[in-house]
Amino acid sequence: MKPRVTAIVLAAGKGSRMGHMTPKQYLPLMGKPMLFYSLNAFAESEADAIVVVTGKGEEEFCRTQIIERYGIRKIECIIAGGTERYDSVYQGLLAAKGADYVLIHDGARPLVSVEIINKAIKKVQELNACIVGMPVKDTIQLAAEDASIAETPPRSMLWVAQTPQCFSYSLVKSSYKKAQEANDTSLTDDAMVVRKYSNASVYLIEGSYHNIKVTTPEDTTIAEALLKGQ
Ligand code: CTP
Ligand code: MG
Repeated sequence: MKPRVTAIVLAAGKGSRMGHMTPKQYLPLMGKPMLFYSLNAFAESEADAIVVVTGKGEEEFCRTQIIERYGIRKIECIIAGGTERYDSVYQGLLAAKGADYVLIHDGARPLVSVEIINKAIKKVQELNACIVGMPVKDTIQLAAEDASIAETPPRSMLWVAQTPQCFSYSLVKSSYKKAQEANDTSLTDDAMVVRKYSNASVYLIEGSYHNIKVTTPEDTTIAEALLKGQ
């Protein structure tokens, strides 16, 4: 039987670094809300279902203004997230009923493509745990407290982590459950959670340098330029 692949798209953040009243995932990019683009990519991909995690009280807005307005298919449910990203992911995992594999994606990455998603779906079935990323182009310096350089890690070994981050459902669910029970607040991405709370290897697969996260206002300009080029 074909395994069920569920995308969990995270849109429960406040976008504080964006400095706007409206959370960034609802701000317009080329005339459409940012969240539209990643939801649309998952709907057009080989994923079977999409769980959307929004801020508490934003569920109806998201349903009427994005999902119904643009006719986005495959939406399984819209649920409220939590205070931190990992809380939102955990709520998404609880809602992803019957999933064999999950793809966890930041709604703030509107440039994810159908090609990246389909590659990730294929790879996670081989590897069990893999995240999309890209080799870094800049030299990265590890700073000491006084901002002197403590270490220069070899660039050839460094990648930036992006999303989707993809796992077998049982692996990521049990890892997140342990992290929740431990009240672990040090976790910034899903690969960290799975590596810390399981013995599984998590593999890096190449995505695209276009798959940026919109974090600060200048990223909006870059994202619009990239969307125009598509
Ligand atoms: N996210 C979430 N729930 C949270 C925090 C973040 O679902 N409690 C989501 C965001 O909506 C975003 C993704 O996780 O799609 C990556 O987070 P980030 O870029 O940090 O977004 P925000 O937390 O909204 O921004 P900021 O940190 O500037 O407030
Ligand atoms: Mg954040």
